Amino acid sequence: MLELAGSAVEGLRTAFAAAGYTVYGVAARIGEQANGALARNETAPAYRRTASGDPLDTMIRLFLLQREVPESAVNKAFPGIDLVALGIVELSGGEVRATLDIRPFAEDGREWWVVADLTPGLDGRREPMRSDYVLGIAPASLSLIQLTVPIKAERALDIGTGCGVQSLHLADRVNQLTATDVNPRALQLARATAALNHVELDIRDGSLYEPVRGERFDLIVSNPPYVISPPGGDLTYRETGFTGDAVVEQLVRQAPEHLTDSGWCQLLANWTCVRGEDWKDRIAAWTADRSAWAVQREQLDPSEYVELWLRDAGLHGTPQYTSRYDEWMRYLDEQDVEAIGMGWITLHNVAGSLDAEPWPYEIERPIGPHVLHRFERVEGLPADLTGLHLRVADDVIQETTGQPGAEDPATIVLRRQRGMRRAEQVDTVLAGFVGACDGDLNTGQILAALADLMDRPVVDVLSDYLPQVRRLLIEGFLDY
Ligand SMILES: C[S@@+](CC[C@H](N)C(=O)[O-])C[C@H]1O[C@@H](n2cnc3c(N)ncnc32)[C@H](O)[C@@H]1O
Repeated sequence: MLELAGSAVEGLRTAFAAAGYTVYGVAARIGEQANGALARNETAPAYRRTASGDPLDTMIRLFLLQREVPESAVNKAFPGIDLVALGIVELSGGEVRATLDIRPFAEDGREWWVVADLTPGLDGRREPMRSDYVLGIAPASLSLIQLTVPIKAERALDIGTGCGVQSLHLADRVNQLTATDVNPRALQLARATAALNHVELDIRDGSLYEPVRGERFDLIVSNPPYVISPPGGDLTYRETGFTGDAVVEQLVRQAPEHLTDSGWCQLLANWTCVRGEDWKDRIAAWTADRSAWAVQREQLDPSEYVELWLRDAGLHGTPQYTSRYDEWMRYLDEQDVEAIGMGWITLHNVAGSLDAEPWPYEIERPIGPHVLHRFERVEGLPADLTGLHLRVADDVIQETTGQPGAEDPATIVLRRQRGMRRAEQVDTVLAGFVGACDGDLNTGQILAALADLMDRPVVDVLSDYLPQVRRLLIEGFLDY
């Protein structure tokens, strides 16, 4: 099995850098169309663009297209490195094939190489997945990276590290980084990823918080195996022996005892929406008296959910598809599951409560800075807002609609271009208030002036509008 250290690491790094095997280098070589096709798991367009046999073409064909390349080309691309002995490729009849995926990855202006198992299902191939399959950089991995609050931390924990991609992303703003997994193969590939990128990683074997008993962290991130599936599913990267959504429940419930005061826990999650129960109450029971925010990005009915994950496992069209489908539906039905929520949970280890909402719309990416900002507002706004001098945020636009020729608009919507890209319908008074927020008068003075204009008691206008002003502050429409 793969052990990367010392001269092998330096040799690979030098070879990749010399060839220009970076996100930009690959994109420039194969072009936009082939890049798009590759994102859809189609390799033919990129194959046509990589015929020169130079080291970059060789690396792309070997790792990204999973094609055979001549041994001589591999020797030229990786001079003096025995990829076969390292366990990265296998050689047969003068042709070389990759046994692992090593690919460039970039985020926030930084670049790395990530070691994972080969992407399954390229070019429509149907391949059974090994149960200890180690997932590479998936869309969910990127979602969590982009959700992570941009803080510097003394200690951080990456639960279910897989190929180590979350840890890579955290490395340069965390002093001590711990990564855990239950899959020995994942631990090994995470170790290889860390070594290849000169990242110091304390890698531990064990389930959920077991390997860090009694320890506390400033930041915990996890893209856990959250798939809610009946017993018998054996894909470690996505499912566990836990019943229903218990894996997510345990991660959330036990987070406070592993967080420093004011520490953060951020998870991607699936949760069950049980008949007769509000999903928000379910998550609120897990986050208890901590400050938290749960966002449901998508909700699927049981059949949509089962189809999604059966396809993910490559089972669509196989003989066991319908029986597994039926078994899975029965399992969800037995637990009274009427839908499954998919989204994220952020818990801040300070006293507070849960905000939970469905938000299936486009958001700014990365969203992490906005998450941090929103918590600061929820937890830090003064009880009395009247003394604040507010300014409307730069990204807010106002949209009005109504009958042609009408004197007043029928609706006024304030829309943010950034963060969650929220839209808030407001009345003419609140629109007037926001329009007057240029930092000059304070909130109490503006609302008093509006009360005067409307000939209403100031106290009534304050009680009507201050809660709405608070909401606009929390959601970033207004700054102070
Ligand atoms: C969806 S993958 C996430 C991989 C990677 N962190 C990412 O963001 O792409 C989930 C990972 O959790 C690991 N895992 C499964 N059961 C676990 C458990 N009980 N405790 C900790 N990790 C577990 C799997 O082996 C897998 O590597």
